[in-house]
Amino acid sequence: MQHLRLFLVGLAGSGKSTLGKQLAERLGAPFYDLDSQIENRVGMSIPEYFSQQGQANFRIQESECLNELIATQDSFVLATGGGAPCFHFNMDAMNEHGTTIYLDVNPGDLALRILEDGVENRPLLKSYDQQDLIAEIRAMKEKRQGFYQQAQIKIRDNQITVDMIVSELKSAGK
Ligand code: S3P
Repeated sequence: MQHLRLFLVGLAGSGKSTLGKQLAERLGAPFYDLDSQIENRVGMSIPEYFSQQGQANFRIQESECLNELIATQDSFVLATGGGAPCFHFNMDAMNEHGTTIYLDVNPGDLALRILEDGVENRPLLKSYDQQDLIAEIRAMKEKRQGFYQQAQIKIRDNQITVDMIVSELKSAGK
C-alpha cells in the first residue's frame, strides 16, 4: 500500500479495532489504535486519565496524538476513539490527510457489544444501566452524526467486512 492513511470512525463498539486490524493485515500496513497511543503517551489507562484529568484534557491529548501520527507516518490503518472526529477539527485533518471510513452500527447492537466488552472501560457510558445505555448511545449518535457523515466512505451495520471496504477503496480510486 502506497501512502494510504485509513481512519476508521464511529461510536464505541462499532468494530473499528477488530476491522482495522484485519484491514491493515490485508493491505500490508501498520495498524494503530488511537486510544492505545494516548495511553502510551500519558502513561495511564483511558478511564484513569478521564477521572484524573477530565474530558477536555483527554480531547487535547487525542488531537495531539492524531496529528503526530499524521505528521510522522505515510501509511497506516487507524482505529480512532468514538469522539475523536467531533473535537479540535480532527475530522477535517483526517479528511485532508487520508481516507475516512464511518462504521455506522445501530444503537441496539452497539449497546450489546459494549456490555459484552465491559462498560467500565468506557468512561462516558459507564454510569448507564442496560436500559438507559441504548438511549444514551442513540443521543450520542444524533449529536455526533454530523461529523461521522463527513466520512468519505460509509458502511452500515452488518455489511461491514474487509472485502467490502477494499472494494469501496478500489472504486474510490485509492
Ligand atoms: C470515547 C470512546 C472511546 C475512548 C474514550 C471516549 C467517546 O473509544 O476514546 O472513552 O467519546 O466515544 P472507543 O470508541 O474505542 O470505545
